[in-house]
Amino acid sequence: MTEKPLISIEALARRYPKRGGGETTVFEDLWLPIQKGEFVCLIGHSGCGKTTILNVLAGLDQPSSGSVIVDGREISGPSLDRAVIFQGHSLLPWMTVLGNIAFAVSSRRPEWSRETVRAHCQRYVDLVHLSGSEHKKPSELSGGMKQRVGIARALAIEPKMLLMDEPFSALDALTRGSLQEEARRICRETGQTVFMITHDIDEAMLLADRIVLMTNGPQAEIVENPLPRDRLAASMHRHADYYPLRNHLLEFLVTRSKSFASEIEGRPYDPRKPAVVRPCAVAEDKVPAAASV
Ligand SMILES: Nc1ncnc2c1ncn2[C@@H]1O[C@H](COP(=O)(O)OP(=O)(O)O)[C@@H](O)[C@H]1O
Ligand SMILES: [Mg+2]
Repeated sequence: MTEKPLISIEALARRYPKRGGGETTVFEDLWLPIQKGEFVCLIGHSGCGKTTILNVLAGLDQPSSGSVIVDGREISGPSLDRAVIFQGHSLLPWMTVLGNIAFAVSSRRPEWSRETVRAHCQRYVDLVHLSGSEHKKPSELSGGMKQRVGIARALAIEPKMLLMDEPFSALDALTRGSLQEEARRICRETGQTVFMITHDIDEAMLLADRIVLMTNGPQAEIVENPLPRDRLAASMHRHADYYPLRNHLLEFLVTRSKSFASEIEGRPYDPRKPAVVRPCAVAEDKVPAAASV
């Protein structure tokens, strides 16, 4: 990756004052470049600082040190350049589906006419398959539909970066599956750059181009997704690389995330260049003869 990244997280650290004096470090020396159009997922244990990182990226929290550069400029607060989708939907209850989306779009594009805003919003309503429900209020929608409005609203403002904090975790499995696939399709079609937090391994495998594995100490490893780009939730488990990837992620969460600090102890470790791995099945021509019978 030699191209200049769209987003660059540089030496980011967040510390909190401890009760009774001193400081606790949530994370430090975090470096991560994100290319335009990339879908990056961050996985890690509860409490390792995922939401804190997302809040810093959104401009809702200040880092203790380090910086986030978006398109060559250091960020200094919230901006419509960076849209956030939270776990809850956070829609305005007195506005319709179209109204909620249009409100965000007109804030971003105050120069647009009502008609232009409306036509633009309708396109995103159609993209998330909510056509026919434009004039409903949030109270008339199911949980999955509300989350769809949240996704449409975030995408409609055409942000440079879409930030998502476990956006599908409150949904039932069936709704979650179809929304994940829609989110992937839309982000690919629109070239959207995404940073998403999840604790769901299958979700990360379906959606992400790269998966960042975080520990309670240093950022650990970057995993490149070896699965084909046109993967589908229903069939990706049949791909030869599915289990090597899944096992690698699972092993990290279950054991390595705790032992990682000792794993790198005494070895040269450059936080600017975390290990990059691409778990794959053994290539067919390399399978030993005994294993292929
Ligand atoms: N305002 C705060 N004051 C002190 N500690 C905090 C504050 N906010 C978060 N933390 C601590 O920072 C750590 C990371 O929190 P968070 O980013 O929410 O984790 P995650 O999203 O990975 O579960 C936690 O250990 C939490 O206790
Ligand atoms: Mg969190």
